[in-house]
Amino acid sequence: MLLTATFFTALISLTSALPTTTKTLTKRAGGPAIKPIPSTCALSNPYQQTTSAPSTFIPAASAKSAQLYAAYYPSPSTNTTQMSQQCLEQCYGYGTSTECHSAYWAENIPVPAGYYGSPGGQLETACIFYTRALTAADLEAAPEGQGTSSFARNIAC
Ligand SMILES: *[C@@H]1O[C@H](CO)[C@@H](O)[C@H](O)[C@H]1NC(C)=O
Repeated sequence: MLLTATFFTALISLTSALPTTTKTLTKRAGGPAIKPIPSTCALSNPYQQTTSAPSTFIPAASAKSAQLYAAYYPSPSTNTTQMSQQCLEQCYGYGTSTECHSAYWAENIPVPAGYYGSPGGQLETACIFYTRALTAADLEAAPEGQGTSSFARNIAC
């Protein structure tokens, strides 16, 4: 109980210290609900109009200003298809299902410094939401060993 309260207090102080455009909630408690995406919504791959998709990719600097939410965590499973789909459905489940327009998911992404008080740099699984559709220009080739199983989809409803 004391631990929970301490963690919660730390969470609040950290959250209030961050830019208001980026909400860092845990994927468990308080994370966006996993919500099935209706078939009336169109899913698209930011790379689908290009032939130059790198095998592994990470968000480029241009995507940062459109970031809505980011979670970093150890992969709870080995099923990358399922985990990336869950991230996309959490994007849809965010808020009133109108805010998140794109989701990026990959393993082996460096955690940003300050994430839950972490010094940052360790490689974890990332699920990141964006307020607009991403294009190929918002993504770039990942450094060696990073961005494993990288996945990005836009949702248009
Ligand atoms: C991974 O998850 C997907 C979606 O839930 C499922 O269809 C597939 O069978 C799973 N693959 C493995 C190897 O468990």
